[in-house]
Amino acid sequence: MAAFGFVLSLALAIAIAAFYKAVVRLSPIHPSPIILPPPVPLTGPFTPNSLLSSNLRRLGNGLLPFPEDLVADAHGSLFVACGDGWIKRLDPSSDTVENFAFLGEGRRPLGITLGREGELIVCDPDVGLLNVTKDKIELLSDEADGVKFRLTDAAAVSMQDGSIYFSDASSRYSFANHYTGMMDISPDGRLLKYDGVRRKTTTLIDGLYFANGVALSRDEDFLVVCETAQARCHRYWLKGEKQGQSEVFIDRLPALPDNIKIDGKGHFWIALVSARPFYMDWILRFPFIRQLHEVLGLTEMSIKMMSKRALVLEVTEEGKPVRTLGDPMGASISLVTTAYVVDDDLYLGSLNVDFLGHVKLNATT
Ligand SMILES: *[C@@H]1O[C@H](CO)[C@@H](O)[C@H](O)[C@H]1NC(C)=O
Repeated sequence: MAAFGFVLSLALAIAIAAFYKAVVRLSPIHPSPIILPPPVPLTGPFTPNSLLSSNLRRLGNGLLPFPEDLVADAHGSLFVACGDGWIKRLDPSSDTVENFAFLGEGRRPLGITLGREGELIVCDPDVGLLNVTKDKIELLSDEADGVKFRLTDAAAVSMQDGSIYFSDASSRYSFANHYTGMMDISPDGRLLKYDGVRRKTTTLIDGLYFANGVALSRDEDFLVVCETAQARCHRYWLKGEKQGQSEVFIDRLPALPDNIKIDGKGHFWIALVSARPFYMDWILRFPFIRQLHEVLGLTEMSIKMMSKRALVLEVTEEGKPVRTLGDPMGASISLVTTAYVVDDDLYLGSLNVDFLGHVKLNATT
């Protein structure tokens, strides 16, 4: 009997080892373990609430497919980067939508912001950093230090000197492959600076795990860049004695950050796009589980499952959390990629819906 038990255990061990080896061999990704510090407790400003689901109004309903990001101009028009390749213009007071500029068939603008002369600065993940006006689309940059961008993601423009700060989420994974990129998670994202006078792009921070949203502080003395796969954001100093240095701005976020925007008070609004259930930290820690996801074709489903809710976070210039607004079940909106505040109006972009979410902030306090 003892011998039989031994043979059985041995066979089992051999089968497990063979399975493990097969998965590793078949897997297109060969990731490293990532150990995230545990998320902050869900108390104080992080206490769960459903302020987004109960107060949400839809703008441009049905006309704004997968609006990942938006920006307001001086007249209050909203320019929205849509999943059908269009930049659309929304007038929020009359709730009317019109086409503004078409990037092309199969294209997908992500980050969008205003340039100094009222032009739109648009991140096209497949092409690079664009200057978009009503009648012209110009490529400003598609590589830095000899490395091409694969997933140009978000931008912020200095009103003082016209420099454009932006991110390339990954130099390996394109937007079409970004689910696999999010399972692999290699440190190949960059924070970049485009100098319009010299027409040259330089790297400010490299080695980021999915570099995402970028925002400038009110005095333009620092930048914040979100590092999605590390559930944190960095501060990069542009002025002062720490100029050129970076440090953690906020970390241990309870979900993964996407875009970051500044409001009129100088506070930052971070869209926390994907939840961080306890098992996500295990997925990150064990490369084999991530490889298994890829081999079994479960990656997209698994990531979408973690994104079926909405959460946005307001933080001070010091990186101190002020409040969160959420839709924990994704009843009204989910996969929120952008939280953009103009005075009392909070506008939400999302990769899951065909409208902009709108919430009056004074109705939520
Ligand atoms: C974008 O194009 C417009 C129109 O040609 C031009 O005035 C503006 O300076 C350009 N912006 C940048 C950042 O190159």
